Amino acid sequence: MAVRRLAPKELQPATFSFTPENHAWALQQMEKYPPGRQASAVIAILWRAQEQHAGWVSEAALRVVAEMLSMPYIRVLEVATFYTMFQLQPVGKKAHIQVCGTTPCMLRGAGDLIDVCQHRIHHDPFHLSDDGDFSWEEVECLGACVNAPMAMIWSDTYEDLTRDSMNKLIDGFAAGTPPKPGSQIGRQFAAPEGGARTLVGGGAMTRPPVEPEASKEPALADADAKKPTQSASERESPAPKAPGADASKNNPPTGAGLKGPAK
Ligand code: FES
Repeated sequence: MAVRRLAPKELQPATFSFTPENHAWALQQMEKYPPGRQASAVIAILWRAQEQHAGWVSEAALRVVAEMLSMPYIRVLEVATFYTMFQLQPVGKKAHIQVCGTTPCMLRGAGDLIDVCQHRIHHDPFHLSDDGDFSWEEVECLGACVNAPMAMIWSDTYEDLTRDSMNKLIDGFAAGTPPKPGSQIGRQFAAPEGGARTLVGGGAMTRPPVEPEASKEPALADADAKKPTQSASERESPAPKAPGADASKNNPPTGAGLKGPAK
C-alpha cells in the first residue's frame, strides 16, 4: 500500500465549503450523536465532502470538517490518511479503481488486474490517465475475498474479475455504461460458483413418520409397571458405593487403547 499523504500545495484548492444541501445533511448526521460526541460523524461527513469535491478530500475540506465537529485538525487528518476510502489527491473523473492486492485476491489473479491498470491507465498508482478520466491504486482487503479477485470503484465492488472482465469494466466506465456491480461471472452473492450445491434435492430432507401419541401411551405405562419399586428410605439415602467404584473419575486413563506417537 502506498504512503498516504495530502496532495502537494499546487493541487490544493484555497477553500472548501459544503453546498447548502450537503451542509444541512452534515448537520443531520451530527444530530445523531449525543452532545459532545459529534466527532463520531467524521467519516460520514468526510465521505460527503469527498463526493462533493470530485472524489477526493482537500486540506481545506479537512479543516472545514474539523471546525464543524470541533475536532483538532490532526484528528481529522488521521482519519483521512488511515482509511483508503478517502482519496487525498485528484483521481480519475470517470473512475478511480482500487484493486485489492491482499493474499486471497493476489492468489486468484489480482496481479493480472493490476497489469491491466498499468497498461490502460498509468504505470504508477495515483497517476491520472492521459485524458484524466481514470486512476488506480492497490489497496488492502476490501472484504469481498470470497469472490476474489475484486476491485472497488466509488461505492461499488466488482468481483470475480479476470483480465478480460477488467478490460470490459474500464470500457464500461469510459463509455458511461458501467457493468452491474457484484460478481462478473453471474455468481449469486457469495454462493458457490455455478450455483447452490447444498439443499438442492427436494427429497433429501424427508423425515421419518411420526408415531401417533395414542400408540405411545401403553408402552410408557408398561415401562413404568416394570420399574422396581423403591422404599422411602432408599429414595432419601442412596446405598453407599463400594470403594473405588468411581475410580475412573479421579484416575487418569491407563493408556490401554490409546495410540502412542508415531515411531
Ligand atoms: S483479499 Fe481481496 S477482498 Fe479480501
